[in-house]
Amino acid sequence: MLKELFRNGYGRDHSAFPEEQLEAMIQRDRLPKHVAIIMDGNGRWAMRRGMPRLAGHRQGVDALREVTRACGELGIGILTVYAFSTENWQRPKEEVEYLLNLLDEVLEKELPELHAHGVKVRVIGRRASLSPQLVKKIEAAEALTASNQKLLLNVGFNYGGRAEIVDAVKRAVELARAGRLDVDDIDEEWLSGAMYTAGIPDPDLLIRTGGEARVSNFLLWQLAYAEIWFTPVCWPDFRRRHLLEAVVDFQQRERKFGRV
Ligand code: FPP
Repeated sequence: MLKELFRNGYGRDHSAFPEEQLEAMIQRDRLPKHVAIIMDGNGRWAMRRGMPRLAGHRQGVDALREVTRACGELGIGILTVYAFSTENWQRPKEEVEYLLNLLDEVLEKELPELHAHGVKVRVIGRRASLSPQLVKKIEAAEALTASNQKLLLNVGFNYGGRAEIVDAVKRAVELARAGRLDVDDIDEEWLSGAMYTAGIPDPDLLIRTGGEARVSNFLLWQLAYAEIWFTPVCWPDFRRRHLLEAVVDFQQRERKFGRV
């Protein structure tokens, strides 16, 4: 029973269902508007195959490409992924450098396809610690795709949920000090608008791969009412069918938002 619960957050286990069946089960008018993903298990995926951890991150790009395509095709409007956390700087220098270079490479190589398919790319997180070259590339990708409307892809990079809340609070204090914000005007709506995700709905569904069942400082403010779906599948093995499994499970849940 516990194993079953662990397999997919909660609810029925659809892992044995063929992809076509999952596809047929999806209610197109009840899709999650915003899906967030903690892409975990890259290191373990690689180590199990006798490869260096970095190979798992590289393979993770293929999974990200497939899931991005699938979201666009299904009609999920917003995908937010956790690529590098504010805590990931504590990893070995070689791995940190690899992930920084990987973002650079993804922005370079994947951008033409993303742009051609109407994907708007945004990178969320603190940019001050990134190199000026990388920041330039991020800004160029965001500018190029700014008016695309098919899918918004938010890439969390040097992202931390607590850091984001701290940034929002600092902004409030600065504005209040400058006489441009009344303290009584600070409410949930104002704070939502001060987050990196300003103007977009909160995630409806959070997927975490790699078998861990925690939030790890991802979208702390925005996940308040998200449905959470866990899977033991490591991120490099995550395919379109797993996204369908998560959406089917999501659609079988009753969302209450604190009501009875
Ligand atoms: C967590 O797995 C994964 C990361 C810290 C990196 C995620 C990056 C990608 C999926 C590639 C896409 C990258 C960009 C830049 C868009 P882990 O290394 O913690 O795995 P483990 O828990 O098995 O050690």
